[in-house]
Amino acid sequence: MLFKPLFYNVNMKKIVINISMLFLAVMQLNNVTAQQKFIKQKVDSVLRLMTLDEKIGQLNQYNDDWRATGPITPDNNKIGQVKAGQLGSLLNCIGVSRTRSWQELAIQSRLKIPLLFGLDVIHGFNTTFPIPLAEACSWDLEATEQTARVAATEASASGIHWTFAPMVDIARDPRWGRVMEGAGEDPYLGSKIAAARVKGFQGNKLGDINSVMACAKHFAAYGAAIGGRDYNSVDMSERLLWEVYLPPFKATVDAGVATFMNSFNDINGVPATGNKMLQRDILKGKWNYKGFVVSDWGSVGEMINHGTAKNGYEAALSAITAGCDMDMESRSYKNNLAKLVEDGKVSVGLIDDAVKRILYKKFELGLFDNPFKYCNEQREKTELAKPEHAKLAREAGAKSIVLLKNQNNLLPLSRNLKSIAFIGPLVKALKQNKGSWDVEVPGIDSNFIVSQWEGLQNKVGANTKLLYAKGCEMEGNNKDGFAEAVEVAKQAEVIILSIGERREMSGEARNRSDITIPGVQEELLKSLLATGKPVVVLINAGRPLVFNYTSDNAPAILYTWWLGSEAGNAIADVLFGDFNPSAKLAMSFPINVGQIPIYYSHFNTGRPVTSSKVPNTSYIDISVDPKYEFGYGLSYTSFQYSNLQLSKKLMKMNEQVDVSVTITNTGKYDGEEIVQLYLRDKVGSIARPVKELKDFRKIFLKAGGSETVTFVIRKEKLSFYNQQLQWVAEPGDFQIMIGASSKDIRFMEDFELIR
Ligand code: GLC
Repeated sequence: MLFKPLFYNVNMKKIVINISMLFLAVMQLNNVTAQQKFIKQKVDSVLRLMTLDEKIGQLNQYNDDWRATGPITPDNNKIGQVKAGQLGSLLNCIGVSRTRSWQELAIQSRLKIPLLFGLDVIHGFNTTFPIPLAEACSWDLEATEQTARVAATEASASGIHWTFAPMVDIARDPRWGRVMEGAGEDPYLGSKIAAARVKGFQGNKLGDINSVMACAKHFAAYGAAIGGRDYNSVDMSERLLWEVYLPPFKATVDAGVATFMNSFNDINGVPATGNKMLQRDILKGKWNYKGFVVSDWGSVGEMINHGTAKNGYEAALSAITAGCDMDMESRSYKNNLAKLVEDGKVSVGLIDDAVKRILYKKFELGLFDNPFKYCNEQREKTELAKPEHAKLAREAGAKSIVLLKNQNNLLPLSRNLKSIAFIGPLVKALKQNKGSWDVEVPGIDSNFIVSQWEGLQNKVGANTKLLYAKGCEMEGNNKDGFAEAVEVAKQAEVIILSIGERREMSGEARNRSDITIPGVQEELLKSLLATGKPVVVLINAGRPLVFNYTSDNAPAILYTWWLGSEAGNAIADVLFGDFNPSAKLAMSFPINVGQIPIYYSHFNTGRPVTSSKVPNTSYIDISVDPKYEFGYGLSYTSFQYSNLQLSKKLMKMNEQVDVSVTITNTGKYDGEEIVQLYLRDKVGSIARPVKELKDFRKIFLKAGGSETVTFVIRKEKLSFYNQQLQWVAEPGDFQIMIGASSKDIRFMEDFELIR
C-alpha cells in the first residue's frame, strides 16, 4: 500500500481485506454469470439449427454393449442413429478407445453434437472404495469428498463424463438391497454426505478434466419401497416426503449437482418418472433447478406396467410433461415424441426446454470445443492405478469399520502373537470385497484387491504363524469343513472369523426377507467358541444384518461391510490398532426383521414404551430398541463428556444458542470421536420426533487430550414442515441432547424458543 492512513489499525486492515474479498467474490460471480450467459447463447444458436428429429435424438440414452444394468431394448441400428445425430448419450460405455470410437461417429452427424458417456461410478472406478453405506459410517465428509474426487479422476481418464451417483435415498429398511448404495436413515447426515459426494465428483467446476457430472438419484423416496422390495410402491404423506426424503436431494441442488435421475417407484400411485409434482413443481419450480433429469433405465416405458400409461405414446407424454428430460433405454421418446408434437399433445417448447438443459451440460463440459477432451490414452494409462489412490482406499476402509463389541479389550491384537487362525469363507475372497455396484474396467486388471488373508500377511511379522481354514461356504448347510477349522483353531492363540452375506445379496433387486447371516456360518462360530480360544468376528455385508448369536457370544466384533480394493489392509490396520476404529452406524440394526422399519427419530406416540403402567407400543416378544442404534460405534479408547454450557436458556427467533461440551480422551489410545447433537421439539403443532440429529463433530484426540466442541443452534435447526407444509420454527420448549450415539446420550438440557 503506497500510504498508511493515520488511523490505520487492525480493524481497518480487516475492513480492507473484507472489501477486497467482496470485490473478488463479485468479480467471480460476474465471471460465472458471464460464462453462463455465453453458454446459453451457444445453446440457443445450436437449438435454432436443429430439426425436431435431432432435438428428440438428444433426449435419448442407450446402453452400450459392455454390460447391462437393466433390461436391454434390442436395437441393431445404434451406429446409424448416432451418425444421424439421433442419440444424446450412451451409458455403460467405458474406456478411451471405445468412447472415442462412438464420439467419432457422433461428430459425423450434421450438427456434430457430441455424446455424453454415463456410468454408475458409485464407490470408485478402478480403485474401489468402501460401499457408500460403509463410508457413511465414517461421518467423515472430507474423506467422502476425497474418494469421490479420486473416482471422478479415474473415470474421467477413461472417457466418462457423468456418473449416476450419489444415490441419496434415505433408507430405513435393511431388507432393501440398495441400502448399501446410500448414506442410511438420517436426513441430516444423509444431506451432508450427499453434498460431499457431489462436490467430490464435480470438483471445482464442470469442464475441469478431472471432473464428471454427478447425478442425484433416485428422485424420489425410492428407499421407502413397501416391504423393502426394490421397485415396489411407496405410500407416504407429502409431509414425510418433505421432512425425511427430500432434504438430501435439496442438499445436492445446493451443492450444484449437474443432473438428477428419477426413480422406478410410484409415490402414492404416481410413478416418479411421470410425477409432475416432483420434477416440475418441486425440482424445476420451487428449487429452480437448471440441470436435467434422466429416467432410471426404462422407467418411462415402465409406466405401462404401472398401469398409468396404455402404451409408449402415453408413457412418453406423461414423462416429458412431468419433467423427465432424457429417456434411458426405453425408446419411448424416440418412438413417440415426434407424433406427440404432430398431434399437438406436446409443444416443441417443452422439447426445447429439455434439449437446452442437455446441450448446456455438453457445452459446460467443453465437449463442443473438443469432443475428445476425455479421450486421452496417456491419462488413462497413468490415472487409474496410482499408489495414492490405493492409500486413500485403505484409509477410507479403516474409517468405515465399526467396532461393535470388544469384551475385555481383546482388540487391538498384539503383534507378539505367536499364532493366529484366520477362518471363514471370506478370508481369501477377492471380488467379494468390492461389494455391489463395483466397476470391472475391461482390459485393466482391477483385481488388485488386497484380500483379508493378504492384509493379515502384510501386517504380521515373521514370528506370527498364520493358520487358515475356510470352515464352510457362505450358504448351504454343509458342515464338513468344521472339523478342520476347529483343529486349526486349537493350534492358535487367537481366532479371527470372517463371515457374512455374499456381495450379490445386496444391491439392486437384491432384497432379503431374512437378513440373518446365511448358511451355517454362525454355527461355525459356535464350534470355534467351544475351543475356548478368543474369537474376533468380522462381519462382511452390504446392509445391517441380524446376528444375535454372534452378538451375544463373540467377544469382539468388527462390522467390515465391503471395503473395496484395500479391504485386507484396512481390516489389518484396525485389528492391530494401527487405526483406532471411529466409525458409527448410519443405520439402525434390528434385533430381528420383525422390527422393520426401525429408525431412531420416531414419534413418541400416545402410549410410548416408557409408559409401562398401561398397554403401550411395545412388542410382547422383543424390545422395540435396535440391536445396535444409529450413531453407535466403539473405539479402543474411551471418551468423557463434561462441562455442557448453553449461552442462553431463552432464544428469540432471530438469535442463536451456543452449546459447548468438553470431550476428553480418557483411554490409552489416540482416537476420533463423533460427537452428536440431537434436538427435540417437546410440543409442536404436529408430533415431533423424540430426537433428531442436527449436527455432529468428528474430532481427533490424543490419549489424555481434551477439546471443547461448540454447536450453534439457530432457527433453521428448530424448524420443520407443519401440516400446511410450511417450514416453521414454533415457540416452545426444546431439548438439547449431546451423545456418543442416538441412545448413549451424555447430556440433556432444555431451552425455550420465544418470538
Ligand atoms: C439401474 C439403477 C440406476 C442406475 C441405472 C443405470 O436400473 O436403478 O441406479 O444408475 O440403472 O445403470
